[in-house]
Amino acid sequence: ARILVLNGPNLNLLGTRQPEVYGAAGLAEVEQLVRTRAAELGVEVDFHQSNHEGELVDRVQAERGRAAGVVVNAGAYTHTSIALRDAFLAAELPLVEVHISNVHAREEFRQRSYLADIAVAVITGAGILGYRFGLEVLAERLAAQS
Ligand code: DQA
Repeated sequence: ARILVLNGPNLNLLGTRQPEVYGAAGLAEVEQLVRTRAAELGVEVDFHQSNHEGELVDRVQAERGRAAGVVVNAGAYTHTSIALRDAFLAAELPLVEVHISNVHAREEFRQRSYLADIAVAVITGAGILGYRFGLEVLAERLAAQS
């Protein structure tokens, strides 16, 4: 089984972007952390990052019937994108929503998520560990189904 780790806008800047909020680790470290755990769990992982809403939609659509689930940090699109929500619904892909920062401790506009109610789980404020937790949630769910 393969799980996609999908990152949205500005997450390519992880490590240099507001380190007081998002920490010092870059996306490469996130990938390493997740790959290490994936190997232990015996699941395959793919990584994709895009700053473009339509490209994220394209990727989710393309994963229909392919990926077993998606760990997604949609960045600011979390709070704005009905299109990305609809893509997940159309693709029938289980997702875990991840945020590095605790969005509930931040601005009002980050309180709304267009993904949370269709997600298996939402992990927010655990730093980059959130990605690993997300992978674990989806892998556990897969194991329970097989
Ligand atoms: C974020 C939180 C979002 O509100 C923000 O727009 C991001 C990153 C996080 O990981 O904490 O880009 O998703």
